[in-house]
Amino acid sequence: MPMTSLSWATVDLATVPHIVTDAVPGPNSQAYNARGMRHMIGYSSQVTLCPVVFEKGHGVTLTDVDGNVYIDFSSGIYVTTLGHCHPRVSEAVAKHANTLMNCHDFNTPIKVELLEKLAAIQPWDLTGMQLYDSGTTAVEAGLRVCRAATGRQEFISCFMDFHGKSGHAVSCGMINSTNGPGRAQGFYMVPRPYPYRPMFTKADGAIDTDAYLAFYDEFINCATTGNIAAFVLEPIQGWAGSIIPPDDFFPKLRKFCDDRGILLMVDEVLTSMGRTGKYFCMEHWDTRPDVVTVGKGFGNGFPVTGMLVSERYKDSINKISASTSYGGNPMACAAALASIEAMEQEGLLEHALRLGDYFMARMRAMQEAHPIIGEVRGVGCLLGIELVKDRTTKEPFAEAGKLVYQRAFQKGLAWVPAGHILRMSPPIVMELEIAAKGMDIIEESITEVEREYGY
Ligand SMILES: Cc1ncc(COP(=O)(O)O)c(C=O)c1O
Repeated sequence: MPMTSLSWATVDLATVPHIVTDAVPGPNSQAYNARGMRHMIGYSSQVTLCPVVFEKGHGVTLTDVDGNVYIDFSSGIYVTTLGHCHPRVSEAVAKHANTLMNCHDFNTPIKVELLEKLAAIQPWDLTGMQLYDSGTTAVEAGLRVCRAATGRQEFISCFMDFHGKSGHAVSCGMINSTNGPGRAQGFYMVPRPYPYRPMFTKADGAIDTDAYLAFYDEFINCATTGNIAAFVLEPIQGWAGSIIPPDDFFPKLRKFCDDRGILLMVDEVLTSMGRTGKYFCMEHWDTRPDVVTVGKGFGNGFPVTGMLVSERYKDSINKISASTSYGGNPMACAAALASIEAMEQEGLLEHALRLGDYFMARMRAMQEAHPIIGEVRGVGCLLGIELVKDRTTKEPFAEAGKLVYQRAFQKGLAWVPAGHILRMSPPIVMELEIAAKGMDIIEESITEVEREYGY
């Protein structure tokens, strides 16, 4: 096993976080925002709820334009999994920025090395590949491959999944805020097991995975033409709040698909490349997908994504006009290869799992102490805390979620808001002491908010 090496990202515990302005955002952030927001429209709630302006990042910290230093529990938005400006990644990108930036989809030595590395680290038969520059484009390509491979047209995806914001990606996910024409023809959604809020349970109250599959069977018979190309879903639902299915779900869904000639397309844009302590989240359930998408942490901040297709269907990639302008450019390939090599050689997957154990233990202790915490969950560094008004009714507590997000940010924790579910995606190079400090800030903020609401 490689020795864990976090030395480049080490920070002095006494120096983080460090808030030097009377209020957050400070005056320089406010001045930049006044200029930027005159033109850039449509910021995410991550920004609008705490509009600081960042200037630099190093490892597990971010610094804003007022000199405030934050512990990073966001990795951007699940992107900089190996920390900001990992030296291997930055050097690899800089080298290729000075050598060759783009030559369409011609092979380059660095691209060939990356493809071979990907083929070596995937544990199944996913040897057909294409490279892209956003998760959305990779998802769109995956859908086209599923259609080409099966000759079928329809897709089933799951409630609360998120797959991107283009027409078909949106059609596989939650669509209610996109102001579009609605779901594209042939795209259907079904509920998936959400252990904290199960739709189908056994007599003893335990989640009933078989009942979900029976429902899918009925749904396909009654609501579709039966012409299903693929089930398309996230392994753990990231955007929805780190929702982890029961262990029997994916193995059973694999068999369900096999029995019906349906492909299993797993969107690992958010969950792959170290986020859950594995290269692919599906490794946790030892379940082989037919098509997988990767992104976000893949290039640790450099926009590079990909689609991996089973050996048996890979010729279908020829039928989808697969290439793009930026996909697989040398800088992108260098960033992705350097990120994988860092994980391999610096023991980072093992460290992500160690961190995950720490986070789960700490979150369980917090759950004991705080009545507004309904559930805590996580795998590796993909974590969620679900806030409720009442543990019996499980009524979501979105007002508290927003306040806790803002309070913690103002105390020096950069992270990810999501209504009543607090989402955390710290870089996997974080030392345990810093992780503990970040959790202290969250707990302090929850305590304050509980007090304000009279709990
Ligand atoms: C599971 C999943 N798929 C696809 C996407 C879209 O990726 P991108 O924003 O890079 O287009 C996201 C983005 O959050 C995601 O979480």
